[in-house]
Amino acid sequence: MPRFLGNPEQTMSNTHRIAILAGDAIGPEIMAQAVRVFDVLSEHRDLGFELVPAAFGAAAYFEHGKAFPDETKQICDGMDAILKGPVGLSHEESAKIPVDEQPERGAILPLRARYDTFANFRPITLTKDMAHFSPLKSEIIGDGIDILLIRELVGGLYFGEKERGINDAGKRYVRESLDYDEDLVRRVLIVGFEQARSRKGILHNIHKSNVLMSSVFWNEILDEVHADYADVEVRHMLVDAAATALCLNPGQFDVMVMENMFGDILSDQGGGILGSLGLMPSACIGPDKAYYEPSHGSAPDIAGQNIANPYSMIGSVAMMLEMSFGLVEESRAVWQAMKSVFEDGYTTADLASVSAKTEVVATDVFGDKVMAALATQLKR
Ligand code: NAD
Ligand code: IPM
Ligand code: MN
Repeated sequence: MPRFLGNPEQTMSNTHRIAILAGDAIGPEIMAQAVRVFDVLSEHRDLGFELVPAAFGAAAYFEHGKAFPDETKQICDGMDAILKGPVGLSHEESAKIPVDEQPERGAILPLRARYDTFANFRPITLTKDMAHFSPLKSEIIGDGIDILLIRELVGGLYFGEKERGINDAGKRYVRESLDYDEDLVRRVLIVGFEQARSRKGILHNIHKSNVLMSSVFWNEILDEVHADYADVEVRHMLVDAAATALCLNPGQFDVMVMENMFGDILSDQGGGILGSLGLMPSACIGPDKAYYEPSHGSAPDIAGQNIANPYSMIGSVAMMLEMSFGLVEESRAVWQAMKSVFEDGYTTADLASVSAKTEVVATDVFGDKVMAALATQLKR
């Protein structure tokens, strides 16, 4: 059942239609908190939101036989934006689903392909007063961490040709190819340069050109694109070294751009240096449509306990407000609300700290506090 929030008299132009794909394991728990943002916004602003839930992921497979059912595709096609919770099951539970319908291959990748969401924004941010969440020393964190990791999301190994068989020697073999064409590389690099230009004018290009032909190719295209962005300084770094640099000196990074698989791995490392994957929201932007999801998975190890951190899911809503709807002030209010809850000393269990005074609260209680703080922000 769609849920309409806002004043029914208002014009269609300020009503935003959003598909809600709650996901698996902790997905519904953190989604329940995230959608409350729309309630609070429609109460305090002349904005309307129509939320249309649709089946997606392992739950969809068990109910409809498909991880990304046709009905969900049609709903998503008709919406202004898509909000997606994490999907997937534990290794053992996943094995009960045919490989092609397991939600990673059967739902997430087809969603990305359908809307060509090539530019994945994965912010890695920690304000100075949240420094105690991080496993890094405070002198390494300095004034905080503020990195925008941009991951190419619809090419590379994930979408290349795959083959399994028996070779001439009678041995089983596998082959997957890392495919890009120049347009796919160019468009994500342009996004990287644009972001770098609008921030500090420095772009870290992460690659593996000492080994991979695909990285040599990527860097050739980068040099061509750079000609249009002479004001942006490019700093090259090999991906293995970047993994260490993120831990030892994250302050050197501002905007980072990289290939799909590199971005998958380094963005989880981003969660690590912040202190929890629960601090990692994301935006997946295509030419005509965007969807928003936490960078992390469905955390089956903590599902059903009301202890997951909803920050990543609520942050994904904040990114949607700004990037899909241009609601910059409202987006800032959501970030500020979450920050103020942390400043008041409340955290979920993943961020419990002995070095700083924190009070651990449940997922829904964290949500209550964020919504109360948001309402206060919006009344100002
Ligand atoms: P995961 O990201 O689900 O969990 C890794 C660790 O981080 C776990 O200890 C988990 O409890 C913790 N964690 C993650 N999010 C948290 C949150 N919001 N609050 C508190 N703790 C949090 O990774 P995994 O265990 O490797 O994968 C589980 C499933 O999720 C797999 O099926 C995987 O394929 C899937 N997955 C889905 C997505 C997606 O939907 N975009 C992304 C990554 C993984
Ligand atoms: C992510 C996830 C996905 C990825 C999987 C679940 C398909 O790990 O969004 O980071 O590898 O892209
Ligand atoms: Mn990942």
